[in-house]
Amino acid sequence: MSLKHSYTLIAPFYDALIAAATRAPRRKSLAPLLAQAPLDVLINGVGTGLDLPHLPAQHRYVGLDLTPGMLRRARGRRGGLSFRAVEGDAQRLPFAGGSFDAAVLHLILAVVPDPAHCLMETARVVRPGGSILVFDKFLRPAERGWLKKALNPWTRRVATRLDVVFEEVLEDATSLTCLSDEPALAGGWFRLIALRKN
Ligand SMILES: C[S@@+](CC[C@H](N)C(=O)[O-])C[C@H]1O[C@@H](n2cnc3c(N)ncnc32)[C@H](O)[C@@H]1O
Repeated sequence: MSLKHSYTLIAPFYDALIAAATRAPRRKSLAPLLAQAPLDVLINGVGTGLDLPHLPAQHRYVGLDLTPGMLRRARGRRGGLSFRAVEGDAQRLPFAGGSFDAAVLHLILAVVPDPAHCLMETARVVRPGGSILVFDKFLRPAERGWLKKALNPWTRRVATRLDVVFEEVLEDATSLTCLSDEPALAGGWFRLIALRKN
């Protein structure tokens, strides 16, 4: 089963499963965007748009996702925001370099097959000085995580990878500097990470 197929099946239940547990960390992750002059912001892997209610109205948003059923829900959540939904692959973005002032990567780096490529693509489309806000679950570099690794061959096909080590993902993204990295949920399994494009 492809991720597009499984997320098409998950779409009607996604909000009930995910919204409440992730509300507080989303709000915290997105706080740096609140008091800023108008920006162009990419929400890469926007899903059903659970970030949208936490975003300020002055910016212009593009939300990209692989799954039309998820994007349809995101469109319904746009409220008064300037929001454009784009169907596409988070690892091969259909945007020119430096198109955005900021990017949001919430629960997408650990979902796509190639997270390093996804991060580098996101860095490519963000202008120098711009920011990338990450909220996701990662293994620590020295963590054994044997249960997560054992489940991973199945979970990565239907919903998410459980074996992604953020430090390894960041290794190739030499244009990025880590500004902050803090635990968010589940004893630090989920983290909030802010990056700056040099
Ligand atoms: C766990 S959901 C996260 C959605 C949203 N960012 C959030 O925080 O709720 C993962 C999303 O990634 C999308 N997705 C999976 N593979 C993708 C890819 N290669 N490119 C773009 N989106 C992808 C799925 O359709 C799904 O909407």
